[in-house]
Order: sequence, then C-alpha cells, then structure tokens
Amino acid sequence: MMSVVTQARQCEGGGMAGQTPGEIPAMTRPELEVLQLQRLRGTLRSAYERVPHYRRAFDAAGVTPEDLVELGDLARFPFTTKADLRENYPFGMFAVPREQVARVHASSGTTGQPTVVGYTREDLDTWAELMARSIRAAGGRPGDLCHVAYGYGLFTGGLGAHYGAERLGCTVVPVSGGMTERQVQLILDFQPRIIMVTPSYFLSILDELEAQGVDPHDTSLEVGIFGAEPWTDEMRTTVQERSGLRAVDIYGLSEVMGPGVSQESAKTQDGLHVWEDHFLPEVVDPVTLEVLPDGEEGELVFTSLTKQAMPVVRYRTRDLTRLLPGTAYPTFRRMQKVTGRTDDLMIVRGVNVFPSQVEEQILAIEGLTPHYLCVLSRPGNLDELLVQVEHAAKLPSGVHDPEALGAALRFRIKHRIGITVHVDVLAPHSLERSLGKAKRISDRR
Ligand code: DLL
Repeated sequence: MMSVVTQARQCEGGGMAGQTPGEIPAMTRPELEVLQLQRLRGTLRSAYERVPHYRRAFDAAGVTPEDLVELGDLARFPFTTKADLRENYPFGMFAVPREQVARVHASSGTTGQPTVVGYTREDLDTWAELMARSIRAAGGRPGDLCHVAYGYGLFTGGLGAHYGAERLGCTVVPVSGGMTERQVQLILDFQPRIIMVTPSYFLSILDELEAQGVDPHDTSLEVGIFGAEPWTDEMRTTVQERSGLRAVDIYGLSEVMGPGVSQESAKTQDGLHVWEDHFLPEVVDPVTLEVLPDGEEGELVFTSLTKQAMPVVRYRTRDLTRLLPGTAYPTFRRMQKVTGRTDDLMIVRGVNVFPSQVEEQILAIEGLTPHYLCVLSRPGNLDELLVQVEHAAKLPSGVHDPEALGAALRFRIKHRIGITVHVDVLAPHSLERSLGKAKRISDRR
C-alpha cells in the first residue's frame, strides 16, 4: 500500500493522475484520518488568511488555525450558515481572486438573494472525479450511456452529473429537465443504461412512458441515480417495482460542492457513503449545536477539505441524518438517507412532522401515488394540514370510490404519526409536476 503522504500528494485537488477515473481510494481509517487532519489544517488556514468573514468569525470565537491539533478540535471553530453566504453576496466568500474562479453556480434562492459558489479549475477537477466515483459506486461503468435529466445552469445538478459521467468514460446525453415527451423519446431511441434525475421528475418520465404505451420494464434503463430532494425507501420500492431499475441515492449541496458529496452503493443500498477524504462530516444537535456521537440523529455539518475557491468551515446544511459505519466502502462512514430539512419541519398542533413521513404513509396504500402536496393553513387559531394526493389511474380491485383511499390515509396518519389531517384524493395529473426538485409544502398560513 502506498504511503499516506504519497497518497495525499496524488490526491491533491482530487485529480489522482495515473489512477483509474472514479476509483474509490483504498486506504485504512487511520490513514484517512491523517489525510483529513493535514487537509483540514490547509482549509482553516486558507479560510482564515484569505476570507475576511472567516477571520472575523474565528477571531470572535477566539480561535486560530493553529488551535487545531487533532480532528476533534474542529468543534471549537464557529459554524457557517446560509445567512453568512448571503451577507457576503456575491463573491465575498471566495478565497482566491475572482480571475482564478473558473465557474460559478448559485442556489435558486426561494427567499431573498441566491447564494453564489465558485470553483477553481482544480475544484472542477475534484468535483468531476468525485462524481465519477459516485457514478461508479452507483453501478455505472465506463462506456455506459448516461441520460442526465438534472437541470443544467446555475443549479449544480446537470453540470455536476455531466462532467462526472464524462470523467468516468460514459457517453453523456445532456438533456436537462423538462420536455418530458422528448425525454421519453430519447430514452427509447438512445437506450441509456443510467439515468440521473430527481426522483420526483423520474415519476413524470414513468407516467409519460406509460402514456405512450411503453412498459417501463422494457426500457434499457438499469440504474437510476436519484437525489437533490428527500425521497423515502417506500418511494425506492415504488420506483423499482414500476421500472425494474436499481434506484440509488446521491446527495450534495452547492455550498459544499454540488452532487457527489455522498453516494449510496448499488450493492448495499443502505445509505450514502460520505467521500470523507474531501468532506469532513459532523452531526450536531440543531438546538444546542453540540456535536453528537455517530448513530445519533441531528443536523449535518460539513467542512470542505480540498476546496480552493470557496472553502467552507462547519457549514450547517439544515439536513437531518445520522452517521453510521461504512459497509460497501468500510473506510468511509455512511449518512442515513436524509428524511427532511429543519426548514421543512411542519409543526401541526404541536406535533413535528416532515413531508417524508406523509410520503411513507401514502405509499403504504395501494391506489395512491407519490404525487402529493402538504397544504398548511390556519383557519382559526389552530394549524391544519391538508394532504392533497393523486390516486392511480387504475384503482385497486374492490375500491370504487377514491374517497375510501382518503379515509384510509387519514386513519394511517392519525395512528402512525399522531395528527388529524384532511385528505383530498385528486384525479391523476391534478397536481403541478416539478421538472426538478418537487415542492412538497404549500404554507398558506
Ligand atoms: O441539490 C445538489 C444535487 C444535485 C444533489 C443533484 C444530488 C443530485 P442544492 O440545490 O444546493 O444542491 O440543494 C441542496 O438539497 O441541502 C438537501 O436539503 C437537498 N438534497 C440534495 N440531495 C438530497 C438527497 C443540490 N439525496 C439541498 N436526499 C440539500 C435528500 C437532498 N435531500
């Protein structure tokens, strides 16, 4: 086995010259931790020396990069939030002169300013390599035809998937999102083995295939790399049964890089391996901000280890999950499937509920579909949750009135989640379809 130092040098920037593209590095956990510590020092130094925001934040917390002696010392450093990125809009978080930034992306910014992120050439190289690694872990191979239906543009999904698939040696079809009929035509004509798309938009593609009289089992698709939004294991079962492909989860966020921060293995389908040689994960209590031990659920926090243009230190993702030991790749810890964001928490008459919990109950009822929306209102003093959900085109035998499905869902939600909700069962195609991330909550309070 090569020395850690040699490996660290080879891994600088992630380019890994001479290695097979997307190869998952073979190193032991102690070797990984040596590499992490070395890289973490570099990140803290670069952030402190080059980004005024971090200098102020570290000074206010009374720490300097030299205070990091071991990995656990990271807990003494301040967190970074989306608000910090907004305050430094557009380029204030960059650690290199703007001229050295080869590309920017930005989050959609549903409220207020978008957040802007930047990449040097080397950052783009690292990203392509980590996406190639992710596609490989998902079951992709050089030579595969890969249909990319994540949106291209400021969103990181399309271009992130694109360059990763190219790096792995795939033939890439850069379709982007939308024009569902054409998506279907291209799938039938080009015969991709892999599709990369949000799970909610894949449902629209499946609907369109069926509308064109094609059984989704008969397409060439074997692997679906689904992410950018929460989706449940129940959704995985539904999608796999409807299409015959293997559905795996991919996670990431613009602030930390984009897609490819962590990836589920096609072999184990048991949560996402975090590429810890490039990102250091922590899970913290969202209220006290204490670091939690592995296995406990809390808010996921990331520190980048190799990013040049925009290092992030203890970035609070707002995503809820837990860290677990590695399985398919034992050196890298897994994160459990993200079930929700702290932002999406609906508090209904004192009970905390995430849309994903509602999704689980919907998919337990034959005849209901994963096309749903949670509508919050406050007609009097009390919050009300209305679940709008479409029924399947073909009702299960014995069910004549879709209302019966609504009653079944109300009952399940009452007994499994503990809240009384209203349910509207709608005809197929009543709800607006997303071309990317699905909107699951409409807050009318
Ligand atoms: O959604 C990056 C991405 C693109 C990931 C394509 C995977 C595939 P943002 O637009 O910055 O970046 O949104 C990041 O989306 O904090 C999560 O809340 C959510 N998210 C992303 N992937 C998953 C996932 C991209 N697999 C935000 N499961 C994150 C649950 C996810 N939520």
